Amino acid sequence: MAITFPGELHDRNPTMAELSAFWDRLADKYAAQPIADEQVYRTKLARTQAHLTPDMDIFEFGCGTGGTAIAHAPHVRSVRAVDFSARMLEMARARAAEAGVGNVSFERGDITTMAIPPESYDMVLGLSILHLLENRQAVIARVFDILKPGGRFVSSTACLGDSMKWFGYVAPLGRAIGLLPMLNVMTPDQLRADMQQAGFVIEHDWRPAPKAALFLIARKPA
Ligand SMILES: C[S@@+](CC[C@H](N)C(=O)[O-])C[C@H]1O[C@@H](n2cnc3c(N)ncnc32)[C@H](O)[C@@H]1O
Repeated sequence: MAITFPGELHDRNPTMAELSAFWDRLADKYAAQPIADEQVYRTKLARTQAHLTPDMDIFEFGCGTGGTAIAHAPHVRSVRAVDFSARMLEMARARAAEAGVGNVSFERGDITTMAIPPESYDMVLGLSILHLLENRQAVIARVFDILKPGGRFVSSTACLGDSMKWFGYVAPLGRAIGLLPMLNVMTPDQLRADMQQAGFVIEHDWRPAPKAALFLIARKPA
């Protein structure tokens, strides 16, 4: 996809400002893309909603244009959804208004730096984002910290490390010439190990097809 960072060759990882500008530019195209597999998406929503109750406050990071936050909102007390792309959030707010959903807030924030009090949420969602972070282990540890005891972390993550190992070699080049955002290549087992290392117990582990994103529901012990 012909999307470029400002500037020329990078011999370093992109800054947050560059990354959020990248997602701002991508936002309209991203929103226009159909969901890759509607049935799989609906199954993930249903498996998440099986854990939701009307007294819950949930948090989503990297919410993009807000479709998932809006889908879960009727099942909980509140949804706080953050993303660092202003354009993604603009579309998310418009979608929430159109859907008439009043208990979801969309805020600009960077999950790696924003202040969130410990043990604030009953559930945290991180969908199609962990592979985009420079230090996913630090973010997984943050998620553990901001969840209440017994709370759950729902993630869906592209794990390119087994089926597309070669991608790990071209990704830095793609970043360097501005074609790719920050991209981390990991195996499903590496991600499972990161979750367990942070203290999570994996309750639900689903990869709908060999190269599909890994869907995990992980619980913080009570
Ligand atoms: C691939 S999109 C996924 C959007 C949505 N979760 C979905 O499943 O469609 C990744 C999103 O994460 C956001 N993002 C990436 N890094 C972030 C960070 N450090 N903090 C907050 N948002 C971030 C991007 O702006 C983008 O909207």
